[in-house]
Amino acid sequence: MKGVILAGGLGSRLRPLTSITNKHLLPVYNKPMIYYPIQMLVDAGIKDILIVTGGTSAGDFLRLIGNGEEFGLSRIHYAYQKGEGGIAEALGLAQDFVGGDKMIVALGDNILQKGIRDAVEAFARQQRGSRIFLKRVDHPWEYGIADFEGSKILRIIEKPQDPPSDLAVIGVYMYPTDVFDIIGQLERSARGELEITDVNNAYIERGEMEYQIIEGWWLDAGESHEALLQANLIVAREEGVQI
Ligand code: DAU
Repeated sequence: MKGVILAGGLGSRLRPLTSITNKHLLPVYNKPMIYYPIQMLVDAGIKDILIVTGGTSAGDFLRLIGNGEEFGLSRIHYAYQKGEGGIAEALGLAQDFVGGDKMIVALGDNILQKGIRDAVEAFARQQRGSRIFLKRVDHPWEYGIADFEGSKILRIIEKPQDPPSDLAVIGVYMYPTDVFDIIGQLERSARGELEITDVNNAYIERGEMEYQIIEGWWLDAGESHEALLQANLIVAREEGVQI
């Protein structure tokens, strides 16, 4: 099983914090944001990790993380995304690294309270298709939202104006290697990006999508200044700090 962390993009919603650095290098309590998805993958038993980044501070990832010694790794792989062509475009850069394996994809600004080891093991046993995590949210118009018929997902709608549910698709995705065929056939969305929601909808249309609702909190720390502040407070409290 391979791990892919997507940490490209311009982070424009967090300016001026991101004017001279990458969003994923900003602090969340006592660590840079990118540390959390790396630790999540390592804790789930994934040791073969690629970080996709971009922009002008890409070299800072190498200086900060190096070969991943702090995480008990002996090697970390890096790829560079030119521009900000979307989450699915960034994932496409992982094709050679992933080869014929399955992969866990984590967005570099997502932080989960609980580990994902059980889900990774369930995915390793899964015969075909992909697997996503859902979480109930207060502002469903800010996320990819699942539309259901009973317990069956019909589709995912990206940032819906009129949300069909309050169950958001969080930024941890599990794919088999045929995800790269799907990415190769995607067309750019109205905002000029290759959308991960279109990838997920392709699996749903094929009847090859499993999902589970996660326990514990989930943070999209890079979503706004308020979300970043909130993430700092929640993670600090989790570490026993009284604030
Ligand atoms: O956090 C969960 C949400 O993430 C999902 O509910 C949405 O369906 C999904 O589209 C995504 O929405 P965001 O608006 O939060 O995506 P954002 O543009 O903030 O990108 C999330 C991460 O993906 C970001 O931390 C870095 C990476 N990324 C993004 C883009 C656009 C890249 O590596 N390259 C890119 O070109």
